[in-house]
Amino acid sequence: MSTIKAPRGVRDILPDESWKWSYVLDKAKDIAEIFGYREIHLPVFEHTELFSRGIGETTDVVEKEMYTFQDRSERSLTLRPEATASMVRAYNQNKFSNQHQPVKLWCYGPMFRYERPQKGRYRQFWQLDFESLGSDHPFVDVEVIKLALDLYSHLGLSNLDVLVNSVGCPQCRPAYKEKLKDYFRADLDRLCDTCKTRFERNPLRILDCKKPQCREITEKAPDIYSSLCDDCREHFDKVIKGLKHLNIQYHLDKRLVRGLDYYTKTAFEILSGELGSQNAVCGGGRYDNLSDEVGGPHLPGVGFAAGLERIVLVMDQQKCSFGEKPGINVYIIAAQEETRIDAFSLMSELRSNDHVSADMDYMNRGMKAQFKAAVNKGASFVCILGEDEVSRGVVTVKNLETGEQDQVGRDKLVSFLEKENC
Ligand code: HAM
Repeated sequence: MSTIKAPRGVRDILPDESWKWSYVLDKAKDIAEIFGYREIHLPVFEHTELFSRGIGETTDVVEKEMYTFQDRSERSLTLRPEATASMVRAYNQNKFSNQHQPVKLWCYGPMFRYERPQKGRYRQFWQLDFESLGSDHPFVDVEVIKLALDLYSHLGLSNLDVLVNSVGCPQCRPAYKEKLKDYFRADLDRLCDTCKTRFERNPLRILDCKKPQCREITEKAPDIYSSLCDDCREHFDKVIKGLKHLNIQYHLDKRLVRGLDYYTKTAFEILSGELGSQNAVCGGGRYDNLSDEVGGPHLPGVGFAAGLERIVLVMDQQKCSFGEKPGINVYIIAAQEETRIDAFSLMSELRSNDHVSADMDYMNRGMKAQFKAAVNKGASFVCILGEDEVSRGVVTVKNLETGEQDQVGRDKLVSFLEKENC
């Protein structure tokens, strides 16, 4: 029988990487606090309808990428492909409209999409998701872009490109879609097969096709700006004004339409030069009609989600710091078999002091191998207990960084280690 492996596109986040994730999450928590976003934990699966109606029936996510299954009561459920629809559902279900508006929430966790796996693209991936619900003010759009950028700057990321666009609203978008169709009609034969089907169903999506022949055709496609209604135009102008006032460098990108149908007005992405084709470290925008689409009251909102794997990949490539790699403070070494029990109780004693982390060997290793294990564990100090030390009530302490060695009375060990900044 062959050994069972994880499904394609799904990864174990091993300890050598997970400490980096913790670092990023800690920074995200700090930024959330600074911007007044409160943490929420959302379910990993929801009723399928929430996503099919919220994200849109003609999107790739809903058409091809959802992990949908029937539970034992034959309800159709879906592993969340993103968090925004769930945030809106949670806001409505928990009557957050009674709270001070806007309600600013953030969450993190795994999302699931049946995509073709490649570097930076997985079938289970993690997002940090920030949403501001309840206000249609354009400065909130600017706030979420600023939040994303501040997070990246706290993490030490550089070389990022902010792309911004407006995708209009149900009042002005239909006329723009017609304009686009008029433009594409002449080149319909040259569009890729996917874009041919998009022509009738969702012509906006042709704009962000990555295939070279489609890109060539979309180069001169009309932009949305002259088609925006007064409300969308005014909103967009204020977003741009806000970005300028906060000195945020951005590019207008008329092709930025995003892959989810709920967007209205502002859409944005932040790209990294380091990531190759999967280069978006976050994407977001405004979704004022999402709540209406899923049967809730009207609820304006704006937010973004950032891929955790991609952030860590770029940080690795840019050699950003993840803080200190966690290691233990003290590794206890038993010099003889007889002193293992003393080593064991010393370890337990040290651990009961909140700030000292300690470990020891459980594989019956000899002295030399125990030293190796200490280094492997990233210990700062080793404490050696031989028969001589035990009989004299002392411990031999070695600083693994400096090589310095002292004999310390067992009752003074904790204060000694504290003095050594352990
Ligand atoms: P999205 O653009 O689909 O937007 O995803 C946001 C980010 O999640 C991407 O920029 C990328 O960093 C990461 N990501 C997406 N798919 C994958 C994947 N298969 N593997 C690895 N990382 C991935 C949304 O999900 C919206 N809910 C964002 C939003 C929040 N809009 C408003 N509020």
